[in-house]
Amino acid sequence: MEPTTFVLFGATGDLAKRKIYPALFNLFLDGKLPEAFSLIGLGRRELTDESFRANVERSLREFSRRQADDAAKVDEFLQAFGYNVLEIGRKEDYLKLLGRIEERENRLGLAPNRLFYLSVGPEFFETIAANIQESGLGSANGWKRLVIEKPFGNDLQTARELNRMLGKAFAEEEIFRIDHYLGKPMVQMLKVLQQTNPVIQAIWNNRNIANVQITAGETVGVEERAGYYDHVGAIRDMFQNHMLQLLMMTAIRTPHKSDAEQVRYKKKLVMEALEPLQKADVGASVVRGQYAAGTIKGNPVVGYTSEPGIAPDSMNDTFVAAKLTMDDSFWRGVPFYIRTGKRMKEKATRIVIEFKEPLKQSSGSQVEPNLLVIEMSPTDSIRLQLNTMDSRSKGEFKPVQIDIHSSGDELPEAYENLIRDALLGDSTFFAHWDEVEASWAWVQPILEAYEENIVPLHAYEAGSYGPAESDALLARDGYHWWFDA
Ligand code: BG6
Repeated sequence: MEPTTFVLFGATGDLAKRKIYPALFNLFLDGKLPEAFSLIGLGRRELTDESFRANVERSLREFSRRQADDAAKVDEFLQAFGYNVLEIGRKEDYLKLLGRIEERENRLGLAPNRLFYLSVGPEFFETIAANIQESGLGSANGWKRLVIEKPFGNDLQTARELNRMLGKAFAEEEIFRIDHYLGKPMVQMLKVLQQTNPVIQAIWNNRNIANVQITAGETVGVEERAGYYDHVGAIRDMFQNHMLQLLMMTAIRTPHKSDAEQVRYKKKLVMEALEPLQKADVGASVVRGQYAAGTIKGNPVVGYTSEPGIAPDSMNDTFVAAKLTMDDSFWRGVPFYIRTGKRMKEKATRIVIEFKEPLKQSSGSQVEPNLLVIEMSPTDSIRLQLNTMDSRSKGEFKPVQIDIHSSGDELPEAYENLIRDALLGDSTFFAHWDEVEASWAWVQPILEAYEENIVPLHAYEAGSYGPAESDALLARDGYHWWFDA
């Protein structure tokens, strides 16, 4: 791998501690970091290199999936880490940073490849990108890449503004937008499943598939994020990005091995095929919910509007279920049902492909449909449900689930996959601008309908599967959500 300087803005922040350092450490243990690798952490706080390394080490002990108990290994890893104070708006700090990076590159004779990871609020993206440009940090003879995390805007217009502004300093191929759902191993598996299995390819269409269900339920509530969450709700926090990315990864047609450019093009086709909603009709295919008090795993919890920092009259959505349809030859007539919510009964993230019902049996016995279940939480697994016969009781059909893939805890975390890809310059599993823009465009009428309050806000009990209207959304088409206990 090419020599890289990893420039981390927000080096003392939560995301860095919980995700970025542990991911880098696990990549290091697997020998998947560039041989010539250095990381410069940036923050407002005055820290020496030594105290910064000590902070990083603490985060490894707390959050790494593999233990940081081999002192020599940890030491070797931390050697690559240094720290600079940086005030985001202070130009001299960027020049000092450049001086430090260049000194090392020159001393070791390394190519000036620089990856800028912005683990800071989006309100700082513009200033940072402009300063990277102006200071010369980004105009060396090597490559430069920008890694950013959602939120990419707050609606279609602000997303476009953000993109235009980033475009002044970085080309689209240099921007790596993290959607951590795309880094999940089972999401990446979807592509492989389709590409390498003629059996799957043959049935991946509207002749065989009855509907697709995508669920991301969480048991946690708003946690300590009231200030952020109360302005975004489930629709912006989860639906516009993670859920629509899962839809794209399911509906995408990639029968052959495909590179980032092809994947991006095919995902765009999916988004273009999605039938748009009209604001006035949002209520017919979107269920908006907010959790009320209830019980999670035996413990009573308060309702959303009683959470600290949330206004008692907040109309923010903590749950959304939607029916989406596509107008193309593969998916016409196959509804995609998507739901996500906080304070639901279980932490479960899964995609269920329900196949068309087998012929009605003359005996009248119930035959369950075939299902393909791709699960990212609580387990990483892929299962196929088929029917067999119970040989002891004649004529009784029995659904069986076959494990196609299941793994233990040792899978790489999403951030490991994504950071490695960003280091390699492979943007296959990142959110490209076309997708981000199309996703905002698709949810825009929903945002407006919520804003104008023309869609009812349904209360649901904490610890349930969401409001009854979410079940009704499927029942109207003769379906039900699979695996609700
Ligand atoms: C984040 C959201 O993007 O994803 C959080 O901001 C949410 O609200 C989280 O809890 C869920 O991620 P995961 O990987 O735990 O399903």
